[in-house]
Amino acid sequence: MTSVSEQNSRRDFLYYATAGTGAVAVGAAVWPLVNQMNPSADVRALATIRVDISDLAQGSQLTVKWRGKPVFIRHRTEEEVAQARSEKLSDLPDSDARNPNAPADAIAVDQNRALPGHEAYIAMIGVCTHLGCVPLGDGAGDFGGWFCPCHGSHYDTAGRIRTGPAPENLHIPPLAVSDDLVLTIG
Ligand code: FES
Repeated sequence: MTSVSEQNSRRDFLYYATAGTGAVAVGAAVWPLVNQMNPSADVRALATIRVDISDLAQGSQLTVKWRGKPVFIRHRTEEEVAQARSEKLSDLPDSDARNPNAPADAIAVDQNRALPGHEAYIAMIGVCTHLGCVPLGDGAGDFGGWFCPCHGSHYDTAGRIRTGPAPENLHIPPLAVSDDLVLTIG
C-alpha cells in the first residue's frame, strides 16, 4: 500500500511526452520515474517543447521534461492565487522574479511569475535552487506550494522560496502561451 506522499510524488513525475515542436495533449503518455531522471540524448537535446494545457484541471499539476529538466505546470486554485498575491515582497527571501520573460529587474510579485494573460497558471523549472533536488508539489510544504525534502526548502504557491536553505525562487523557463493555452517552452 502506498502512502499519500508516495502517490503525490508519482503524480509529480507523470511525464506528458513531447517531441520536437509538436504539441502534445495533456495525458498523452506517462513515463516512469526512471525515464524522467535519465532522459535519452535526443530528448535531452530538445530545445523547444509545446504542451497543450487546456485540459489541465484547476487544482492539478503536471510535469513535462524540457532540456532534461522537469518543468512543473500548475493550474492553481483561486485560493492559491489569492494566497500568492497577498504575500508582501518584504517577506520573500528572494525578491527577484527569476523570470527571463519579464524585465531583468522584475520583482517576485505573483503577476511576474504566473503565465501572462492566464494568471491561474504557473510554469517553473522543477529543480530546487539549493542543490538541485526535484521538489514535491500539489500543495506540499508549509506554504501550500512545493517542498524539497532533501534539506527542507518550502516554496509558496508562486514557487517562491519561503523557508529553508534554497537561496532563490524556482526559476521560470523561457516560455510563451497562446490564447488557447498551448504553452511553448524554450
Ligand atoms: S536540494 Fe532542495 S533543500 Fe537542498
